[in-house]
Amino acid sequence: MTVALVLIAVLLAVAVVVVGAVSAGANGGAGAAASAPPTPTETPRPAPAEAAPPATVDTFDRTAHSLDDPMSIWVVVNKLRPMNPQDFEPADLVFVPVEYTFEPYMRQEASDAAVTMFEAAANEADLFLASNSAFRSYGAQENIYDGDDTLTARPGYSEHQTGLTIDIGPSTGECSIEACFGELPEGIWLRDNAYRFGFILRYPADKMAVTGYEYEPWHFRYVGVPLATEMREKGISTMEEFFGLPAAPSYE
Ligand code: DAL
Ligand code: ZN
Repeated sequence: MTVALVLIAVLLAVAVVVVGAVSAGANGGAGAAASAPPTPTETPRPAPAEAAPPATVDTFDRTAHSLDDPMSIWVVVNKLRPMNPQDFEPADLVFVPVEYTFEPYMRQEASDAAVTMFEAAANEADLFLASNSAFRSYGAQENIYDGDDTLTARPGYSEHQTGLTIDIGPSTGECSIEACFGELPEGIWLRDNAYRFGFILRYPADKMAVTGYEYEPWHFRYVGVPLATEMREKGISTMEEFFGLPAAPSYE
């Protein structure tokens, strides 16, 4: 009797389970369409590894211009690299139409850039500049050279002979050709903006061991916008270091 009851109970339980399963299957079809999509069976992919930053490719062409040709805008002149020929004079010197103390002449391209820079200083910052010296011939450098090799170049060794260089001061004359020019608004503006016009401050305060000259915050050398910008972006302030040339602290 008891066994029979147990058997009945088991059979009933099995029946309930089977009916429940069939019922769930029937509802499952209709219910799936209306409710959330089936759970994906794929194993979630691992998060992609952090993307590596693209490698910086140095696309600047350091051979675009000669460093030796005196007519190149990249010619490097220093105590180890004299003008060649020694009495070189550029063929395209023009009068630079800016305020000046001594009549300035530069090569056409450098003159145009200087004029634009002087105009920008006036228009953007209300600063008025004057040229104190630009192209100097071999003979003019003979007169300027004062025997102190840290302040003036010997004839044949001055960048001024390239026609690409200009000494700039404020139109007031304050601190002209003096280190204090670097602290005046005009000197600060030039230091920060000259590259936009293709000029570099050629004799920085901390580079005497490389250039061989004391800090000259007034002396700007035209090298063109691409190089001036590249040097600024790379934080390399001298042509010697940028081009991997030997430092030139003194004459051989
Ligand atoms: N004062 C610079 C170095 C020159 O004489 O060219
Ligand atoms: Zn100078």
